[in-house]
Amino acid sequence: MLLQTITTHLDQGIFTITINRADKLNALNKQVMHDLNVAMDEVYQNKAIQSAIITGAGSKAFVAGADISEFVGASVTEGMELAKTGQQLFFKIENCPKPIVACVNGFALGGGCELAMSCHFRIAAENAKFGQPEVNLGLIPGYGGTQRLVQLIGKGRALELLMSGAMIDAATALQYGLVNNIVKPEELIAKAIEVLTLINSKAPLAVAACIKAANAVYNETLNGYEVEIAAFGDCFGTTDKIEGTTAFLEKRKANFKAK
Ligand code: COA
Repeated sequence: MLLQTITTHLDQGIFTITINRADKLNALNKQVMHDLNVAMDEVYQNKAIQSAIITGAGSKAFVAGADISEFVGASVTEGMELAKTGQQLFFKIENCPKPIVACVNGFALGGGCELAMSCHFRIAAENAKFGQPEVNLGLIPGYGGTQRLVQLIGKGRALELLMSGAMIDAATALQYGLVNNIVKPEELIAKAIEVLTLINSKAPLAVAACIKAANAVYNETLNGYEVEIAAFGDCFGTTDKIEGTTAFLEKRKANFKAK
């Protein structure tokens, strides 16, 4: 992988993706979006990767938004293209069959909040701050933020944040259900590794089916209950279901093979 703006690290099946533009608070320019796309292709394709963490370099920001300098001269058509590209990438994260956790280590604003929301869940450092400040720029979120914020925290709270551009701290994000945990900044990655290590010990195809069925709740073209029936049935065709059920009855730890 040839990446200019992000670094990656694979250890014990956990792939850590770090957006590395700390001098610009890890703002998402076209190169970062391209590099994130390449890194996500790696997550999908590399069998050694069981799950992933997305975080930002430095102590100040996860991602402080899309790179505003790329918006200044953009036309209506270019604006729509930017949004389409961003939405495609964030759908790729959201629909990834392997768990992706956002470790929010500071500002998660605009596209940064949208990126965190496209992950399967979020862990916040105590100094995390969330917001959709696009209205300050004469804009709205374009990478799925109007949709996922409503899904995650409800319409009233979401609209207040979207229309005011206000920032919320980690404690408020926890109260709103936007993040699962708050930890000290130095414990952020360790907490994600702890949770992912537990998930990675489970049957990978069943984990992927959990993601697929949960995502179906928000897809109007699908009936989530039907998706669940199909995914449940598919699990019965896996070797891992035989291994998991047999191991339980034999009172031993299951040895899953993702088959
Ligand atoms: N796009 C481009 N550059 C950005 C950026 C963004 N979204 N967010 C921060 N930066 C850059 C700043 O321009 C600055 O660059 P410089 O040192 O070359 O001048 C650098 O990152 C540091 O940011 P700075 O504003 O000096 O830090 P701060 O601590 O004073 O403020 C924020 C932090 C997050 C409050 C502030 O940077 C901010 O409001 N950023 C924009 C947030 C936003 O509107 N995001 C949505 C974009 S659609």
